[in-house]
Amino acid sequence: MIKPVIAANWKMHKTIPEAVAFAKRLKEKFSEPGDVDIVIAPPFTALRSVMEVLKGSPIHISAQNMHWEGKGAYTGEISAAMLVDAGCEFVIIGHSERRALFGETDGMLNKKMHAALKSGLKPIFCIGETLEERESGTTFEIIQEQIKEGLNNITPNDISQIAFAYEPVWAIGTGKTATPLQAQEVHRFIRETIADDLEYAHASETVIIYGGSVNPENTGSLMDQPDINGALVGGAGLDFESFAGIIRISER
Ligand code: PGA
Repeated sequence: MIKPVIAANWKMHKTIPEAVAFAKRLKEKFSEPGDVDIVIAPPFTALRSVMEVLKGSPIHISAQNMHWEGKGAYTGEISAAMLVDAGCEFVIIGHSERRALFGETDGMLNKKMHAALKSGLKPIFCIGETLEERESGTTFEIIQEQIKEGLNNITPNDISQIAFAYEPVWAIGTGKTATPLQAQEVHRFIRETIADDLEYAHASETVIIYGGSVNPENTGSLMDQPDINGALVGGAGLDFESFAGIIRISER
C-alpha cells in the first residue's frame, strides 16, 4: 500500500506572515505522522520561516522550482543546495506553468532532475497534456515522451525518490477536473511507462499524484482509483479548511 502524498503548491501567493500563519495551523492540526504525507510548497521568500514553524512536525516542505547549476552567474535563480539549506525536502519540477510560461523544455527539466536528486531533494515531477493534445488523441504519446526525456539517464535508485504528478493542463485552475476514470487511465499508463520504458522494477510502489482543480468534493472519488496516490493542489491548497479537508479525506 502506497502512502498518499497531498501537496499544496502555493504558486506566487502568500506573504511571509500569511505563510507562517497557515503553517502554524497545519502543524497544530496534523502534529503526529498520519496516513498521508503532507507537503507544502511556499514561495521562495517564505521557505525559511515556514521551515522554522514546521521543525519537529511531520509536514514536509517543497520548493516550486530550482536551477540545475550548483552556483554561478544566474541572476534570479536558486540552486538545489540553497533549497536544502532553506529546509526543503521536495522540489516541484516541470510544472506546466514553468513549461508553458517560462519555456522549460524536457531537456532543461532533465538537468533539473539530475541536480535535484544529486542534492538529495525529492522531485515532484509534473507531466500532463494540453487540451489540444488530448483532443487530437496524443495524450499517451506526450506523457510517454515527457517521462522518457525528463528522466533520461536517471538510475532506478533515483526513480525511487521521485513522486510523479499527472496534471492535465486543461484541468489546472479551470475548475475542470479530469473524471476519476480519465485520471486513472493516465495514471495506469504512467505506471506502465515507468515499468517498461524506464525498466524500473518497483513501479508498483511509485507515488503518482493527480493535480488539476482538486478540492474536498472531488478528492474522495479520485483517491478511490487504484493508481492515484494523492494530489497536487493549487487553488484549494491556499485555503486552510479546504486543504485540511483534502488531507482528511485522503486518510484511510
Ligand atoms: P489547481 O492547480 O488545483 O488550482 O488547478 C493545480 C496545480 O497547478 O498544481
